[in-house]
Amino acid sequence: MKDQKIYMGPQTPETSLDEFFAGMEIKHVFLVCGRSIRFLRLNDYFSSLEERLGIRVTRFSDYKPNPAYESAVKGTELFRKEGCDCIVAVGGGSAMDVAKCVKLFATLDPSVSYLEQSYEDNGIPFLAVPTTAGTGSEATHFAVIYDGGKKLSVAHESSVPQAVVFDPSVLASLPDYQRRATMMDALCHAIESCWSVKADEKSREIAKEAIWQVLSAKDAYLANAPEGNRDMLLAANLAGKAINLTQTTAGHAMCYRLTGIFGISHGHAAALCVSVLWPFMIKHAGECIDPEGADTLRQVFAELADLWGTLTMQEAAAQFGILVKELGLDTLKKPDDETAGPVEASEEVIDELADSVNLQRLKNNPVALTREEIVFLYKEIFRRYGG
Ligand SMILES: [Fe+2]
Repeated sequence: MKDQKIYMGPQTPETSLDEFFAGMEIKHVFLVCGRSIRFLRLNDYFSSLEERLGIRVTRFSDYKPNPAYESAVKGTELFRKEGCDCIVAVGGGSAMDVAKCVKLFATLDPSVSYLEQSYEDNGIPFLAVPTTAGTGSEATHFAVIYDGGKKLSVAHESSVPQAVVFDPSVLASLPDYQRRATMMDALCHAIESCWSVKADEKSREIAKEAIWQVLSAKDAYLANAPEGNRDMLLAANLAGKAINLTQTTAGHAMCYRLTGIFGISHGHAAALCVSVLWPFMIKHAGECIDPEGADTLRQVFAELADLWGTLTMQEAAAQFGILVKELGLDTLKKPDDETAGPVEASEEVIDELADSVNLQRLKNNPVALTREEIVFLYKEIFRRYGG
């Protein structure tokens, strides 16, 4: 995989984009962006691009969070109809997902489902401007889309944006809950990548560096300081690079339905899952299914303890739980949910959650989890965070 070009100062994001477009001799940009782009400085940049540099811009915002396959098809049709020669994604994970699909689908046969065709590198220039520091989606080669409500992963090496422009100012207006939850998403990516069965020495170095950067940038980022925003964007990108190599594990496999049932954000749900999974795995390290063996897994837990500056691996996992609490994420409720009372852990809800677990991601977990153990972990989440 080619190295991704990262633009991060000292020049402005606008100058970086000018440089990219000039270098690639771009004539017509296909801009995948959420409607919230109108609150960003970059909105003016794209509005004036044709007048300034003669580069046309076709905008595409016709997609929702957890984008549908149909939206990606619509985007692909528009890309073709307008004769665009470059894709730019400005936004969070959903914008990246749609843009990746358009990039892969653009040169395929439109008379056959794009999901049934094989992908190849079509050379269409692709640049990303992430507007949250969390998903790391700008660094991964998979896009998540929904076909008839079914979650699918569309993956190909060439869907990784070849360049990323980081603009720390986009994080200045990030709502507080999103700020905290997306940081935890990045942290969970890096932690899960460390212990994934697909991890190797190289991926672990990247993941550990990402953890170090998240923890180092945390306070300044939570205080919305420009340097904190800058450093967290880079940390989340690094965590994205780690899961691009290893994918995520049981924490992410378990978190998706929690977001659907309780309306909490993805990073929040992932943090709750990892907070119960981590101590459980330390306890069950002896049941490791990773060919690298239980000792390597214990070594990973020890390295995580080093990163957290704790004496024992159990204390590091406990510190993660304390961080969840400090961030006010120790609940299964949305921050604006005023309804009183605890969240009930009914058998039906637990069953629904256990049925929802992504089996492919579960295979990346170094400790095999039975359905009973998954039920136990969900009950633990309700016990800790439901009341
Ligand atoms: Fe995630």
